[in-house]
Amino acid sequence: MDNEKIIKELHALRQLDIDAVNAYDEAIKKISNLEVSEQLASFKLDHERHISDLGIALQKLGDTSWADRKADLKGLLIEGFTKLRSSTGTEGALKAMRMNEQLTNRNYKDAHALDFPADIRSLIAANYEDEKRHLKYIEGAIDNEAWEQKHVA
Ligand SMILES: [Fe+2]
Ligand SMILES: [Fe+2]
Repeated sequence: MDNEKIIKELHALRQLDIDAVNAYDEAIKKISNLEVSEQLASFKLDHERHISDLGIALQKLGDTSWADRKADLKGLLIEGFTKLRSSTGTEGALKAMRMNEQLTNRNYKDAHALDFPADIRSLIAANYEDEKRHLKYIEGAIDNEAWEQKHVA
């Protein structure tokens, strides 16, 4: 893979992580369950780490916009954002975040299959493991929430 292509791929992932952080901020505001909101706050920190690690990799490749940080409101997570804005309560916010994490997982999975240099490939593999963990937790939390709501009253 040539440098230009590597830079393009890493920027796409980094943008997704930037948008994920913003989505987590929105979601956390809507979640009343303390345990769930603490978990989501830790996932937000994972995405922050992805942003900075991908930025360092981009800088090493000689990219000049490695530190840019703009919310991309036409980005891949737009559907998840829309869903977040219209959602109410913990379950709705979790379902919107499930959609967002399915997307980050898909993109990291695709990137993981590409022919990156070894150091970048291992960074992407590590980030992908975080994404899988995020999605798994959110799916479990949705099941719990649905169960609790059925058994209230
Ligand atoms: Fe991430
Ligand atoms: Fe994630």
